[in-house]
Amino acid sequence: MRLDKFLGDQGIGTRKQIKEYIKNGRCRVNGVVASKPELHIDPDCDEIAFDDLVITYSEFHYFLLNKPAGVVSATTDGRNRTVLDLLSEENVKGLSPCGRLDIDTEGLLLLTDDGQLIHELLSPKKHVDKTYEVHLKNPLSDDDINLLCEGVDIGDRDKENLPLLTLPARVEGTKSDDKDRPVILLTIHEGRFHQVKRMMEAVGNEVLFLRRLSMGSLTLGDDLKPGEYRILTESEINSLKRSD
Ligand code: URA
Repeated sequence: MRLDKFLGDQGIGTRKQIKEYIKNGRCRVNGVVASKPELHIDPDCDEIAFDDLVITYSEFHYFLLNKPAGVVSATTDGRNRTVLDLLSEENVKGLSPCGRLDIDTEGLLLLTDDGQLIHELLSPKKHVDKTYEVHLKNPLSDDDINLLCEGVDIGDRDKENLPLLTLPARVEGTKSDDKDRPVILLTIHEGRFHQVKRMMEAVGNEVLFLRRLSMGSLTLGDDLKPGEYRILTESEINSLKRSD
């Protein structure tokens, strides 16, 4: 494997950054400063260090994308740009989004080639928390909040054709946005199709803008603009694996 691929795969930086790091003598192979990005290494035998920190090889890749509006959460699409197009520079095969956000929804989206983790985080049995910033057309009344916190009928039916209410959600009020629209934080424990929009419709309201802020232990933070992404830290990956 090429040295720059190894370092890129392990999240040290983009190909361009890694080229620069190698040029500046920050990478060592078996204790010797590496001279070129295309140097051939064997991840099983060679000791690779970056800034004197030995890098261990990991099989999977984990990215946190701040999904912008106008991009679909799919691996391919005939019409629109996909979230994978935004990570095309990474050259990682087998990446998939962990769940879906609507085309007009922004915010946190995990992309990984770790199918087992995706499966566990999306399993309906696991009830992984998801928090959304929801900009609404109208303020919520206390009755609306109570309904959302107890569970609402969003049109889904069980095998006996009885309403399949949403699981109790958490509603926290925040300030209005710059257009003076009410904004709430809504935490849900499922991932049904258009769930947030349908929950707001169920209480006679309308979502004007939606952004996902967290999923399980993973949070969006303030450092990524829409369309930007970063590699998850080891501790974020471990927490996500534990939170499943
Ligand atoms: N709920 C929605 O209605 N849309 C999303 O994109 C995510 C959750």
